[in-house]
Amino acid sequence: MKKILVTGAVGQIGSELTLVLRKKYGNDNVIACGHSKQPSDELKNSGPFEFLDARNYAEVETVVKKYDIGVIYHLAALLSAVGEAKPQLAWDINVNGLVAVLEIARNYGCSVFTPSSIGAFGPSTPKKNTPQDTIQRPTSMYGVTKVAGEILCDYYFLKFKVDTRGLRYPGIISYVSPPGGGTTDYAVDIYYKALENKKYTCFLKADTRLDMMYMPDALNAAINLMEADPAKLKHRNAFNVTAMNFTPEQIAKAIKKKIPDFKIDYEIDPVRQGIADSWPDNMDDSAARKEWGWKPEYDLAKMTDDMLLNLSKKLNLKY
Ligand code: SER
Repeated sequence: MKKILVTGAVGQIGSELTLVLRKKYGNDNVIACGHSKQPSDELKNSGPFEFLDARNYAEVETVVKKYDIGVIYHLAALLSAVGEAKPQLAWDINVNGLVAVLEIARNYGCSVFTPSSIGAFGPSTPKKNTPQDTIQRPTSMYGVTKVAGEILCDYYFLKFKVDTRGLRYPGIISYVSPPGGGTTDYAVDIYYKALENKKYTCFLKADTRLDMMYMPDALNAAINLMEADPAKLKHRNAFNVTAMNFTPEQIAKAIKKKIPDFKIDYEIDPVRQGIADSWPDNMDDSAARKEWGWKPEYDLAKMTDDMLLNLSKKLNLKY
């Protein structure tokens, strides 16, 4: 079989996606790539690992040739809050990295998965039940790079017949790898702090509603989309997908059901609050459901049970 390459394999989604892909397709068939961060022992020891800079065509090409790559999950990217602190770097990594990968895909016949985000929407987008096809004028650099990425992937499909596919992910929550520098990170931190201190200080306002998804659903979504019948895909590169939406107040309430003396208070970070306020409350993901059978498994209560159970084991803390 043609092999699979995962860029950003040391990141939040990549570190888990790589292991799931190895289980499904065989350890030696999935090549993990990182840039600067060291991989975990599990990632390094379960299959091939290479260091590369996804912006560098020649470095990606060397790995694609070496392993005869047929599918690229291109996850190397900066998240929204870091993107606001370093907008030029966000453009460079998120867009120039994608361009290099798309060019490789064009020249070597690879298919490409690229994640987009709720960040691809902006304040002029309808906030409730955000449609699949709607206004996209994001006001964060992260969002600018995500819209550019969606359109680039469409272009490579239309112009060069590259099999590009993608999802607009909401905030992703997991007990394995922490996210780095996103606006939705609070929904991961809150579980750590609930177990460690029974108290969490949230950087978003109590009533800030955002779409979210538990990691197992996020991984299934990517793999199911890449395996879907291409004839049925009308919205190849930017499917809205969501599993739940909640506010900080509501996630705190769900945790309180399990840890009754848990408390939340608020110290608002204006940058991340501004980003969150520009994003949808909840997306309409009916196109993904219809075109390739998207169906999430975890809601807030089920995710909270699983997060607390697994994190308490990981941190060796009882609740
Ligand atoms: N989780 C991302 C962020 O907060 C959104 O896609 O930046």
